[in-house]
Amino acid sequence: MSSQGQRVALRLEGVTVEFDDTVALENVNLEVRQGETCVIQGAAGSGKTVLLKTALGLIRPDAGRVELFGLDAGKLRRRELEELRARMGILFQEGGLFDSMTIEENVAYPLLNQKSVKCAPEEVLPRVKEALEFVELGHTLEKVPSELSGGMRRRVGIARAIVTQPELLLYDSPTAGLDPITANTIMALIAKEREIRQTTTLLATHRYQDGYLLANYRYNGATGQLEAVSNGTGLRTRFLILDRGRLVFEGSQRELEESRDEYVSKFTKALKQ
Ligand SMILES: Nc1ncnc2c1ncn2[C@@H]1O[C@H](COP(=O)(O)OP(=O)(O)OP(=O)(O)O)[C@@H](O)[C@H]1O
Ligand SMILES: [Mg+2]
Repeated sequence: MSSQGQRVALRLEGVTVEFDDTVALENVNLEVRQGETCVIQGAAGSGKTVLLKTALGLIRPDAGRVELFGLDAGKLRRRELEELRARMGILFQEGGLFDSMTIEENVAYPLLNQKSVKCAPEEVLPRVKEALEFVELGHTLEKVPSELSGGMRRRVGIARAIVTQPELLLYDSPTAGLDPITANTIMALIAKEREIRQTTTLLATHRYQDGYLLANYRYNGATGQLEAVSNGTGLRTRFLILDRGRLVFEGSQRELEESRDEYVSKFTKALKQ
């Protein structure tokens, strides 16, 4: 790995976010290096979405600081922050597709509306098609979201998140509400994107299987299949657990599976049963 691989893509230092009387994040410290995968778990309401939105700069912390690609996000001018945001992509938990727009328009949206994204007009459609083909939905350009299944909409969300070819991708609960087969299709796409573009990946999820997959499987471009990597080495996947806004665990899959903490150990139960 070059020194590039060791740079910090995202750092949270003592980040606290409060809403009225709720402390959504409390003194969170987190460092994500380029090329790493971070899997964030935690009960409903523990702060996963708030963490991702704070990382993206959509929520400003009440205390602490957020560093994006080595720069203090709180000290940047709007223009500079937009430039950093253009290097990030997000799949929102709710999907966030615009119902009144076609799939083509939805996926084109970041290319046309993110000020710092430079994309020549004649490049927009090829890029949209490429992103949709990546998620195997190249045939849906003219449709609107309501004509697609929930799993397909999630895939469109992924196409929209990756269309700007970001270095850092945030996925908020990408498998929530999906059947196991569709959930695995979504996770395979996330692993494929990570592999092909060496994307730094932050995944918030309810399912331990999702993190397990990213820690143990890589996409093989030659076969187009996921393949197990012996004991997960080389995939650089870390697990984080949030409990009521506090980061209560950070470590490898093995450390997570060996944890005796009552709350933390709940998040590996899905596989132990
Ligand atoms: N805009 C907001 N205004 C007020 N409170 C909020 C807001 N956004 C989040 N919260 C609160 O912050 C806490 C963390 O919410 P968050 O959405 O991050 O949880 P989560 O871990 O993503 O949950 P889930 O697993 O259900 O997606 C919750 O108590 C929530 O009610
Ligand atoms: Mg959430």
